[in-house]
Amino acid sequence: MAATIIDGKKIAETIQQELAEEIKQLQAEHHLTPGLAVVLVGENPASKVYVRNKNKACHDIGIYSEQHNLPQEASEQELLALIQQLNHDDKIHGILVQLPLPDHIDEHKVINTILPEKDVDGFHPVNIGKLMIGEKGFRPCTPFGVQKMLSYSGVPIDGAHVVVVGRSNIVGKPIANMLLQKQPDANATVTVCHSRTKDLAAITRQADILIAAIGQPEMITAEMVSENAVVIDVGVNRIEDPASKTGYRLVGDVKFDEVSQKCKAISPVPGGVGPMTITMLLYNTVESAKQSLE
Ligand code: GUN
Repeated sequence: MAATIIDGKKIAETIQQELAEEIKQLQAEHHLTPGLAVVLVGENPASKVYVRNKNKACHDIGIYSEQHNLPQEASEQELLALIQQLNHDDKIHGILVQLPLPDHIDEHKVINTILPEKDVDGFHPVNIGKLMIGEKGFRPCTPFGVQKMLSYSGVPIDGAHVVVVGRSNIVGKPIANMLLQKQPDANATVTVCHSRTKDLAAITRQADILIAAIGQPEMITAEMVSENAVVIDVGVNRIEDPASKTGYRLVGDVKFDEVSQKCKAISPVPGGVGPMTITMLLYNTVESAKQSLE
């Protein structure tokens, strides 16, 4: 039987409507408009698209956003000075420095310079540490989006066996930690697999919830999933497609056509995790603005 489709776009729209209401209320009751600063260094075409989409999403729900473009050859010192300025700017509740950065700039130094209270990407070591020990802090947007998608879709997480394929700092490690916590929408038994895992399929077949975040186009096949599995595809891979106008198309890490004929539920690419990631950035920015009132 064909799987239920977990429609990330629709869930994202619902959450964005809720956020827009919350922003109206903050403006009416506290004269407070949440503000996000997005910093782009250089001309990476994919980064430019991401940044444009983030600004548009802010605008659509009433978040103030400003974009800072630095040239490719900007020095690390210039970027750090800009971050310090934004750290002290009361209009700005969230700072996002689009990655990757040019090679001559130390990414860790940049992330460490953002105030943890404005780190709406959830990449600062303080926020990562808080995630590890189950304290309140900003959660990275993609794994946070995956968790929200599961809870909005009514997928039971408590006691479920979650298998995460991929161990990146941005997705694999944080999602494993988030779903492991002794907290609502968590309490899972988590297995993390990666490129050195032996007999990967034997482990992925045991998953009640399978999270694919490997960055390998269509790597997860039907024989790797069980009929009861809920499959979340975090991958966004461009593959050549001469039949498409652009010459390429986007596919996930999961072979959608065959896996969706077998498993219980699945998130598509595009229209799955992607819209959730932006939404959680907006969510974190609104959260940060609310915390500035405390
Ligand atoms: N580049 C790709 N994904 C992300 C993200 O989530 N945040 C930032 N800052 N840069 C990225």
